[in-house]
Amino acid sequence: MYNSKISGLGYYVPANVVTNDDLSKMMDTNDEWIQERTGIRERRHVVRGDGDTTATMGVKAAKVAIERAGIDKEDIDFIVFATLSPDYYFPGPGVMVQKELGIKTVGALDVRNQCSGFIYALSVADQFIKTGVYRNILVIGSELHSTGLDMTTRGRAVSVIFGDGAGAAVITREEDNTRGILSTHLHSEGEHAEELALTAPGMGGRWVKDILEDNDPDDVSYYPHMNGQFVFKNAVVRFSEVIMEGLKQNNLQPGDINMLIPHQANLRISQFVQQKFGLSDDQVFNNIQKYGNTTAASIPIALTEAWEEGKIKEGDIVVLAAFGSGFTWGSAVIRW
Ligand code: ACO
Repeated sequence: MYNSKISGLGYYVPANVVTNDDLSKMMDTNDEWIQERTGIRERRHVVRGDGDTTATMGVKAAKVAIERAGIDKEDIDFIVFATLSPDYYFPGPGVMVQKELGIKTVGALDVRNQCSGFIYALSVADQFIKTGVYRNILVIGSELHSTGLDMTTRGRAVSVIFGDGAGAAVITREEDNTRGILSTHLHSEGEHAEELALTAPGMGGRWVKDILEDNDPDDVSYYPHMNGQFVFKNAVVRFSEVIMEGLKQNNLQPGDINMLIPHQANLRISQFVQQKFGLSDDQVFNNIQKYGNTTAASIPIALTEAWEEGKIKEGDIVVLAAFGSGFTWGSAVIRW
């Protein structure tokens, strides 16, 4: 049995900043509402024609992570790509990253677990490393939301939240068994699948021919639907539960956490969790203010920024936690 550690991190966000005031020119919203309810000040959106896609953004983040891991792309044994916004219906973006990076014939797996996607992907990588199957695994979370949002007042409760971006990590075999990913914890509750969902272009029993013939501009099934308050109530409970589960498994107390990186869903959710566990501002990292909710990309982007800012040091206990559509949720406990 081996240990696995995060040996390299990287992120990429499009240069185009979209402020709350910019959104208020497209729909009936305002900076005060958005900041008060979500903490978001701005987010990044791709610009039409710039060529950024979920896969290409993932590649950009991956290149940084691979370089920082100090390995060659040929050393990557496996790729796991988490997203809810793949470039194609199939194949998934894992193989596109493989193509772009020129990595030959290693396995590429796509994970579809929305905001928890990165935790699920990390957990898969962790198992493959711990069992000695692979030595270096590239894990990517990338999301292109802006091209699929309803940017009218009809969609405002959802559209103001999401942003585009990608984060990546290289997970590497670690011989020192006191360091690395200590445990991961995954959950889901399919009973609430429709509370936060994008039901098209999934066919769901529909015929493509009928969908194309209908060509209905008012078909909201092409936009994400979210029962915001219900999601919020479940999120605060599940975040807390799954963090506690990880701490208990490793005989840790909330006070042992050096850095909690919550999935950046809503600043109020992060603050609730922070308060519940009695954590100081230094123990929790948030960057939703700058990027909005980038779903599967939010944890690797935040983790990379926290690391780049020197907020994570060797030996630190780092806890990652996420909750999102499915519902799915999970956590990871890491000794850095
Ligand atoms: N600007 C101005 N007013 C708005 C906006 C907006 N952008 N959006 C909604 N409103 C209005 C509503 O119309 C409503 O008005 P009314 O009272 O006159 O009817 C009022 O504001 C309140 O709307 P709510 O939807 O009840 O607002 P709420 O306080 O619940 O905040 C939010 C909405 C921010 C979406 C919140 O519910 C939330 O963060 N939920 C959790 C999101 C989450 O964690 N998602 C999980 C991850 S995402 C994933 O997995 C894909």
